[in-house]
Amino acid sequence: MFLQKGFRTAAFGLYGFLRFTKSGFEDNAKRFKAEDMEIQMTGKNCMVTGANSGIGYATAEGLASRGATVYMVCRNKEKGEAALSEIKTKTGNPNVHLEICDLSSTSEIKSFTSRFSSSERPLHVLVNNAGLLEHHRVTTADGLELNFAVNVVATYAMTQLFLPLLEQAAPDARVITVSSGGMYTQDLTDNLQFSEPKFDGTVQYARNKRIQVALTEKWAELYSHKGIGFYSMHPGWSETPGVAKSLPGLSKRLSGNLRTIEQGADTILWLALQPKEKLTSGAFYFDRAETTKHLPLSGTRHSPAVMDAILKNLQALIFSRE
Ligand SMILES: NC(=O)c1ccc[n+]([C@@H]2O[C@H](COP(=O)([O-])OP(=O)(O)OC[C@H]3O[C@@H](n4cnc5c(N)ncnc54)[C@H](OP(=O)(O)O)[C@@H]3O)[C@@H](O)[C@H]2O)c1
Repeated sequence: MFLQKGFRTAAFGLYGFLRFTKSGFEDNAKRFKAEDMEIQMTGKNCMVTGANSGIGYATAEGLASRGATVYMVCRNKEKGEAALSEIKTKTGNPNVHLEICDLSSTSEIKSFTSRFSSSERPLHVLVNNAGLLEHHRVTTADGLELNFAVNVVATYAMTQLFLPLLEQAAPDARVITVSSGGMYTQDLTDNLQFSEPKFDGTVQYARNKRIQVALTEKWAELYSHKGIGFYSMHPGWSETPGVAKSLPGLSKRLSGNLRTIEQGADTILWLALQPKEKLTSGAFYFDRAETTKHLPLSGTRHSPAVMDAILKNLQALIFSRE
């Protein structure tokens, strides 16, 4: 077990260094087709969580520049307003809106989704981007470990609670969840709140990101017949405020070779723009292509029973609490 964990980490480090960096993006970009991104989104309603910063900001800007109506979900009003105003100015698109919601709170998510849903606007694209890597054990007002609350519970709740609006946008609706290649280092576990005595935020983050990929697979199985596509993706290693704060070592080691936020957002936008026939619901994407969910010999494949246990827990957290 110890050896296998060491192998996974080493394989991830090497694989990441070759592919997740800026030079990895530039290599992969040689096969990109410019026309894939020349698609207009006028009339499409798109929601991006964590849109005031980093990859979420670049995603919101990319959607706005293609004419979409964009709802930026942010927790901080001042930061949200500053990002909103910048995006409106840069893109000239007046149909960009700010929605305030702290995604670490299940009650805020419920009141936001209920308020937004009352307008009965179809939702064409939901980008579950907001995320964090907190190294200390922090517990939210709901009694949840903070990484788990934002990375997993919020992703689950936003997707489930917006299903009716997504169905209204069928057959074009899609949910894009921003996971991470970090998930290659962890298998799926229903130890959702990290019960081990010594907290390891990096491991918890990677477990959360593994759950996002497995949830996407499960949603595809449960709901693709509703005309909604579900995709998870890895943005690569990008220079964002989140990385600078949570992974200063990586930032330093890869200085000059981290992706830009636009490169990090590239595959999110590509997934939002492509005709759905080109995409596979439930798949994991990296640099505009479907990619593996497991590195070779890493022993991260799971049984359906683990996912069922996780789903049951998440359902209880969202639908049994008032
Ligand atoms: N950058 C990378 O190399 C990389 C690699 C793999 C995966 N990712 C994933 O990419 C996504 C974006 O990360 P990033 O690197 O762009 O980081 P970032 O710059 O820190 O952006 C994260 C966004 O999430 C928001 N957020 C965090 N907690 C929230 C909460 N409780 N409620 C509402 N919003 C919240 C942040 O808001 P505040 O500004 O208010 O904190 C911010 O807008 C994350 O899911 C991350 O796991 C990034």
